[in-house]
Amino acid sequence: MGTDEQGGQKAANKIEPATGKLGVMVVGLGAVATTMIAGVEAVRRGLAKPIGSLTQMGTIRLGKRTDNKSPLIKDFIPLADLKDVVFTGWDIFADNVYESAAHAKVLDEKTLTQLKPYLETIKPLPAVFDQYYVKRLNGTHVKKGKNKRDLSNQLIADIRAFRKTVDRVVMIWCASTEIFIEPTAVHQSIEAFEKGLDNDDIAIAPSQIYAYAALSEGVPFANGAPNLTVDTPAMIELSKRNAAPICGKDFKTGQTLMKTVLAPAFKARMLGVRGWFSTNILGNRDGEVLDDPQSFKTKEESKLGSLDYIFQPELYPDLYKNLYHKIRINYYPPRGDDKEAWDNIDIFGWLGYPMQIKVNFLCRDSILAAPIALDLVLFLDLAKRTPSLRSIGIQEWLSFYLKSPQTAAGLYPEHDLFIQSMKLKNTLRHIMGVDLITHLGLEYYD
Ligand SMILES: NC(=O)c1ccc[n+]([C@@H]2O[C@H](COP(=O)([O-])OP(=O)(O)OC[C@H]3O[C@@H](n4cnc5c(N)ncnc54)[C@H](O)[C@@H]3O)[C@@H](O)[C@H]2O)c1
Repeated sequence: MGTDEQGGQKAANKIEPATGKLGVMVVGLGAVATTMIAGVEAVRRGLAKPIGSLTQMGTIRLGKRTDNKSPLIKDFIPLADLKDVVFTGWDIFADNVYESAAHAKVLDEKTLTQLKPYLETIKPLPAVFDQYYVKRLNGTHVKKGKNKRDLSNQLIADIRAFRKTVDRVVMIWCASTEIFIEPTAVHQSIEAFEKGLDNDDIAIAPSQIYAYAALSEGVPFANGAPNLTVDTPAMIELSKRNAAPICGKDFKTGQTLMKTVLAPAFKARMLGVRGWFSTNILGNRDGEVLDDPQSFKTKEESKLGSLDYIFQPELYPDLYKNLYHKIRINYYPPRGDDKEAWDNIDIFGWLGYPMQIKVNFLCRDSILAAPIALDLVLFLDLAKRTPSLRSIGIQEWLSFYLKSPQTAAGLYPEHDLFIQSMKLKNTLRHIMGVDLITHLGLEYYD
């Protein structure tokens, strides 16, 4: 790859431009989704800044440190402009986005009132839902169908109708966490999955029906929750076959974000860790759903993964072999969306002497998640327009945003936030045909 203007231009020209409207189909118009949608509109009107969004605020260094060339990411790559983003979605409740945002109580009344005329226009389509998969919810705005195949056909009809009004479509799951599901025979191939849709296979949850509908239509799909959804051979195959990019799952917002920053620091300095106790209290609808043990199990699995992969206890048994890692989530209504997380980390240093670190993160769940949802949508749309990315299925470079990165078979997932960030930016440099940055820097000392 060359850095010369022409080489860069040539590669860049291969990416289809982001002309026209980008349609975003959001599954679940709850706290995260409405905060993203209201936020995009607030930014479009100049009422607020898109803080937390790498696509909107991030820069990317090009060339040498002495070149002083660090454009905004959105000026470097052909990303959809926020003014061209159009939202629609599904929910099991008929509330429009204004009503749902008011219920979620994330954004203040003043902001919501300013945005009300716009937010009221976004009304959810009836959802595909079954209480078996989310015990704590009981929706009324739900599609009826003779089997799961019929339901997926109804979603495909929704996608096709929306597609007539926009130029490109991306789907993102911002709906509730489903019960824990292990992959079965039905998930091993597209054919088995399609038979499963016909036979109402119990291992096919609603999130998988949405994902199937999206991928069948060549629509990229992101998953903000820890559900199995596209993490199966059948969905990976469908993603590749139809050039519909997918990525990992479960937005990496608060506690896990901190974990994937701190753990790499301990490992880099060869500090040992004996125990890591993580607890959370939250009082929003997500907290209520996660109060059900089966939905909690799905979340727990997703939150547990990062430390094992970062610490590599098989490589560093003296430091991490017997690490005790515990995660608790408690539903506590008074807190609403303002979650509080505590981490107690028992570390040890030189000659095994013990120390402790306490992290107390008083965060706002949806304020952290909204820019991640937006970035995933914009980057998946970019991947779909990029010939070298669109047919590879999993976009591992988007691991940066997710608690459970998805990888090719046989690869361990990369959880370290800084490696993930470098991978993301190098992928952008790569698709634009400019030099990757290795941080070697010996050339400055020639
Ligand atoms: N906020 C965060 O920091 C964060 C981080 C990681 C993951 N998540 C995940 O993001 C998701 C959304 O979180 P939230 O706080 O917005 O939750 P929420 O409960 O406010 O919103 C979820 C919405 O999905 C709807 N829904 C449920 N099942 C549906 C279905 N089958 N089809 C359509 N709609 C459906 C619900 O009615 C609700 O409106 C959750 O799964 C949560 O675990 C959130």
